Amino acid sequence: MANAIAPNTHCVYNYDVVRQFTLMTLVWGIVGMGMGVFIAAQLVWPALNFDLPWTSFGRLRPIHTNIVIFAFGGGALFATSLYVVQRTCRVSLISNRLASFVFWGWQAAVIAILLSYPLGYTTSKEYAEMEWPIALWVTVVWIAYCYLFFGTIARRNVKHIYVGNWFYGAFIIVTAMVHVVNHLAIPVSLMKSYPLYSGTTDAMIQWWYGHSVVGFILSVGFLGMMYYFVPKQANRPIYSYRLSIVHFWAIIALYIWAGPHHLHYTALPDWAQTIGMVMSIILLAPSWGGMINGMMTLSGAWHKLRDDPILRFLVVSLAFYGMSTFEGPMMAIKTVNSLSHYTDWTIGHVHAGALGWVAMISIGTLYHMIPKLYGREQMHSIRLINAHFWLSTIGTVLYIAAMWVNGITQGLMWRAVNDDGTLTYSFVESLEASHSGYVVRLVGGAIFASGMLLMAYNTWRTVRGRVNEIPVSIVARA
Ligand code: HEM
Ligand code: HEM
Repeated sequence: MANAIAPNTHCVYNYDVVRQFTLMTLVWGIVGMGMGVFIAAQLVWPALNFDLPWTSFGRLRPIHTNIVIFAFGGGALFATSLYVVQRTCRVSLISNRLASFVFWGWQAAVIAILLSYPLGYTTSKEYAEMEWPIALWVTVVWIAYCYLFFGTIARRNVKHIYVGNWFYGAFIIVTAMVHVVNHLAIPVSLMKSYPLYSGTTDAMIQWWYGHSVVGFILSVGFLGMMYYFVPKQANRPIYSYRLSIVHFWAIIALYIWAGPHHLHYTALPDWAQTIGMVMSIILLAPSWGGMINGMMTLSGAWHKLRDDPILRFLVVSLAFYGMSTFEGPMMAIKTVNSLSHYTDWTIGHVHAGALGWVAMISIGTLYHMIPKLYGREQMHSIRLINAHFWLSTIGTVLYIAAMWVNGITQGLMWRAVNDDGTLTYSFVESLEASHSGYVVRLVGGAIFASGMLLMAYNTWRTVRGRVNEIPVSIVARA
């Protein structure tokens, strides 16, 4: 498969690694979401735990979260960052061998996660469950990725560094920092270690990390994607370049402080909780600044939404981003959090961001990139993309609406007290009240996941299609 030639230069872009990451993003998307559907079914029919340790909800849930965040979301970020950095810098990657190492190294880490969690090897720190040898390996691969990305920027053929690369760059640096600090541990055997920190310090470091995964991987990284692919697909310049710079500095300055909102009403000092709350509320401004910048890029071109389902994926993902970044700051207010914490409301918020924003922007972006990567004029079937769009949107809405209803019901039932001070409801009663919501979530999740199968079929047909269907110019256009 021919790689594309950078305009006005003699270099050839390395699309091999982009193609590899793109296909694996699809594969891991199906595996990770399939796992999500399975654990959602376990919450409807607990018998699906099969009374086996390996298949219990507790072991499969972190497989779902790690695969969707690191293998699916991470894969989309690797693929798009390596594509965008070459095209906007008009230069090929600094090293093809290193690119190959990053791809295979990352897949090896994902497989290690997939094998070790069901066997019960875990640090038990959320989103950081991998035991120390895997964490060490991830660090090595990440350093190679840093070198590849920033090395390519250093060798660029244009003076300017496009704003999308700033967002990708921040995602890469901050992820490295929080990964290393949160995984510092003392190994006691090959697959067992104890964290360097204890008690409240451990909790604070964990949520400084946890929120940075949300902020820098699931938000800033995907905003880098948004800044390149929304203008490209809409065929218009970004609404305000100045706003994108303000957006960048504001969001990276604020996100890192918001972690304590995960630890409201805990042993964490009150002032730290309040800082987390205040920073989270302020975070609404840059988040919406970015969303508005993306949306307004379509001004004068809204009619394109009528017949371009790829653009629809991108714009609706921005709407979900706006929704979840309004909801997040509200949930960070202590009094609201006293209702939402521990309930399904949090799960609803997570998936408004994860399905509506992260998955939908990735899907739209992959549909944009796949024909270009394989030298085809367009995807095999636009109608299938349209069907996929509706499956994703309906699936997300069913999922999050069910979790809001469940979450508020649970929160209210848990805090209800009788006149004599005893609890009005037992925990099991709140579980019974949640059951129908779990069924609706399962249906919504299954609908969303079925869309991914359509995408896999459409991709397969596109890749297998005849290359000579396309004008060469489309391959070389930056
Ligand atoms: C078909 C799609 C999906 C389904 C059916 C699904 C289902 C689930 C279920 C049942 C849980 C456990 C909830 C609980 O413990 O009560 C969960 C947790 C989670 N999922 Fe998904 N999921 C899907 C897609 C995704 C995607 C695409 C992402 C990320 C990009 C994601 C990220 C997460 C995270 C971060 C959690 C942990 C939430 C928390 O601890 O608060 N999920 N998911
Ligand atoms: C301004 C932006 C945001 C703020 C201030 C925010 C705030 C919050 C708050 C207060 C919680 C509940 C913490 C708790 O009670 O335990 C939470 C949970 C969560 N949020 Fe957000 N959120 C934001 C955006 C997002 C986005 C865009 C995503 C993307 C997917 C996301 C993913 C998550 C996840 C995964 C959790 C669950 C963490 C866990 O307990 O495992 N958030 N967020």
